[in-house]
Amino acid sequence: MIHAVYPGSFDPLHNGHVDLIRRASCIFDRLTVAVLHNPLKDSALFTVSERLDILSSVTQGLPNVKCDKFEGLLAAYMSTLGARIIVKGLRAISDFEVELQMAHLNRQLNPQVETAFIMTATRWSYLSSSRVRELASLGADVSALVPEASLAALQRKFAQ
Ligand code: PNS
Repeated sequence: MIHAVYPGSFDPLHNGHVDLIRRASCIFDRLTVAVLHNPLKDSALFTVSERLDILSSVTQGLPNVKCDKFEGLLAAYMSTLGARIIVKGLRAISDFEVELQMAHLNRQLNPQVETAFIMTATRWSYLSSSRVRELASLGADVSALVPEASLAALQRKFAQ
């Protein structure tokens, strides 16, 4: 039984993330999508609980996918779950450089853990949560870029 973890900020969840969750859920027996709770980072648009609500509604049709939050080291969180695979999406070489470093460090911290990279779908390879936040904050229509739950949450946030 292979239990994988897809960690991230998901602030907010976009279509590239959703595609990756679907594809990873077909490869691994169990997939935990884990939202990083970083109490020191106050620049997030959505609270961890808002991000988990979005994730839960988007993944409710995927029986082997669970959503969770974690704090601190990912390598330690992997041990608490007994999970051995970290799933990461790669959009471009620039992602690879950062991710390669993190994969080596995570394996040094927890030698049981391997990182598996999945190439982001071509159609979402330009997408990032920071661009989605920027576009939505400036009033652009991001309905083609994010799932319905993220869109509704963005509309609520920027209507305030
Ligand atoms: O969606 P993001 O912001 O690119 O995700 C980054 C994330 C959460 C995967 C990464 O920052 C992380 O693993 N943070 C947990 C703290 C940690 O373990 N840091 C050392 C990594 S080598």
